[in-house]
Amino acid sequence: MNKSIKLIKLVVFLLFTQSLTAGEGMWLPQLLQALNEGDMQTMGMKLSAEDIYSVNKSSLKDAIVHFGGFCTAEVISNEGLLLTNHHCGYGQIQSHTTLENNYLKDGFWAMKKNEELPNPGLFARFILRIEDISEPMLAGVTDDMNSKERQSVIDKNMEVVKAKYEQDLPAFDDVMIRPFYHGNQYFVFVTRTFNDVRLVGTPPESIGKYGSDTDNWVWPRHTGDFAMFRIYAGPDNLPAEYSNDNKPYTPKHSLPISLDGVEEGDFTMVFGFPGRTNQYLPASAVKQTVEVLNPTKIGIRETALNIIDKFMRKDPQVKIQYASKFARVANYWKKWIGESQGIEATDGIGKKLEMEKEFLTRLNKNPAQKEKYGALLGDFEKLYNDIEPYAASRDYYNEVISRNIEVMRAAGLGGRLITALENNGEKGYSNMKQRLIDGYYTSFYKNYRPEIDQEVCAALLKMYKDNAPFKGLTSPMDKMMGVRDGGGDYTALAKKLYSTSFFTKQAEFDKVMAMNPKDAVAKIKGDPLYAFMSDMKAVYEDIVEPKYKEYNDQISEKQRLYMKALMEVFPEKRMYPDANSTMRFTYGKVNGYTPRDAVYYRPVTYLDGAMAKYKPGDYEFDMPAKLIDLYNKKDYGQYADNGKMPICFIGTNHTTGGNSGSPAIDAHGNLIGLNFDRAWEGTMSDINYDPSICRNIMVDARYILFIVDKFAGASHLIYEMNLVNPKRMPAPTPPIISKTPITKGKKSKKKKKMKVKGPNPKM
Ligand code: ARG
Ligand code: GLU
Repeated sequence: MNKSIKLIKLVVFLLFTQSLTAGEGMWLPQLLQALNEGDMQTMGMKLSAEDIYSVNKSSLKDAIVHFGGFCTAEVISNEGLLLTNHHCGYGQIQSHTTLENNYLKDGFWAMKKNEELPNPGLFARFILRIEDISEPMLAGVTDDMNSKERQSVIDKNMEVVKAKYEQDLPAFDDVMIRPFYHGNQYFVFVTRTFNDVRLVGTPPESIGKYGSDTDNWVWPRHTGDFAMFRIYAGPDNLPAEYSNDNKPYTPKHSLPISLDGVEEGDFTMVFGFPGRTNQYLPASAVKQTVEVLNPTKIGIRETALNIIDKFMRKDPQVKIQYASKFARVANYWKKWIGESQGIEATDGIGKKLEMEKEFLTRLNKNPAQKEKYGALLGDFEKLYNDIEPYAASRDYYNEVISRNIEVMRAAGLGGRLITALENNGEKGYSNMKQRLIDGYYTSFYKNYRPEIDQEVCAALLKMYKDNAPFKGLTSPMDKMMGVRDGGGDYTALAKKLYSTSFFTKQAEFDKVMAMNPKDAVAKIKGDPLYAFMSDMKAVYEDIVEPKYKEYNDQISEKQRLYMKALMEVFPEKRMYPDANSTMRFTYGKVNGYTPRDAVYYRPVTYLDGAMAKYKPGDYEFDMPAKLIDLYNKKDYGQYADNGKMPICFIGTNHTTGGNSGSPAIDAHGNLIGLNFDRAWEGTMSDINYDPSICRNIMVDARYILFIVDKFAGASHLIYEMNLVNPKRMPAPTPPIISKTPITKGKKSKKKKKMKVKGPNPKM
């Protein structure tokens, strides 16, 4: 081997084996002291581990909540004021929206507490403490057990551990046990859930969703993606169901907000509840994602989106009806494209293969490890090969039948009425009927256009037929079209289904719902679309599901072993557990990037950039007149940055879905931004984080304050907050509960200026 090749190999090896690059990792707060504190302080953090996570005193974690179980939010005042994303509160905002009070279009701000709007079903969940329970959970588990035996021991242990933690726990606190590192460790979370969470305010969509789908996942970005809620508690400050008598919650900690902004190189930390990542997959799995599964899903969604887009462009009514559905389908369509391209651009598979080579080299020097782990990579290769047609079929079935042909779901839910009557009689039937009508059918028909869906149906069924790995999967179609293998008129098939089914027409659906239960169920059973959907489901469940599950269970078991192996074979590497919707933090720096040759993206955007994209009347790029007016007058108050209004910034923080609404926190523990997205080129960070292009996107805290104060005139909320100037007076003392007096009703300008202008000596 010549010298230069040796050198390159050494560099690649060192690059991989040195501690993870700044930015990568979704860490557990209670392990911060052991794993990250030094690193973070070297990067500029002035806090101690105790300031961030402590069980005994208030700490940053006490200001962070899991919002509705799908997003993150943070407490930003002593009166339980919550900040999260507009797109996280979208459902609630939409539910309060009527033609007269169009909060989506015009925004909404409660000017008094009694105007704040309740949201049944929405919750805010705090984490009280996190503990490692690997030992009791894995007691009695041995290496020679198969996965079933192992699981049954773990299930039994879980009951014991859970009971122990649940002892003496009040009803509003819960115990949640989750596996980490693919089942090699277990942690328990004791949580406290508040169910009275009210909507305080939201900007109009033309700010909160500015740029919509065109700009989604894109940097440079100019979206003010935020909304505010408030946690209410009972008289004892403890969780209580919604009541008029409830009071704003007094938190253990609320985040002060920095007025000093960010610049390239500043330390940032993002705290929240990331949903799911897959950082430790073998190369064979990543290859399958990039070469087979992503293209399948992208292709199906692209076909559906093109058809919907064609109709949306022709008819403004359709545009309104389909905007939200289109956004939902387009969101991950766009993400998967970015993910595949990012893996390619950074040679993600090549890097995994290089690492696997090193893994094998090390195993060869250690017979004991080789004995345990030597077969793993080969096993993966085989298993991923075996599962491939089943995994692809699963994606086809899910994308075609479950997601993108709208009426399939409507027909499928009809099945629940059949079972309700069969299992629970007429009473069960009418309960289920009401639930489905209120919870699904009413809004489904409000936004449903059968002529669009029919065209999508014809196109997607053809794709399914042409590409599904097993012929039998489409036999119900063949039967209907009277063909055997291939061929067939899909347009005619869709037309036949849509014209004969009652599910495609609201008036006919309503008639069926008005019938007595027995007749209605007979109608559903005899409906051609219901029958077709059921047949497609049955063949899928017969051909694909059992095999998919069998291989997938084997892969999970190997993945657990592989995770264990990686930690043993690379002891010098700090490894973080994959995201699993539990509380994590990630840290990095404000940092631009190079998306392609010769182009550099700076890390901060300004209102000037939003103005440059402004398209009057456009549903994505229209802007409110008041905002334009403020821009023209440069009326930014104390929120400007050298005369300009910053909107968004990016950093190297490692985030994923679920981190929406997460706070971006500075070196001193103050809020500087609100996480809401990632830059497209780096969306492969879920599989393979690469510091060169992986960036999270945050709204600048100053833009949020500016919109609340100057645009919406909701300055009473600003008085509630604790605004600080850490850069003007950077004292490295930890944050303590802000002692801001309640200034309700005392809105003198002077008072406000005094409070926010003077540097807070505590920060
Ligand atoms: N890409 C962001 C996140 O997953 C924002 C999605 C909402 N916005 C939209 N235009 N669809 O999930
Ligand atoms: N918008 C995403 C969310 O809802 C966050 C962006 C991401 O996936 O990083 O959670």
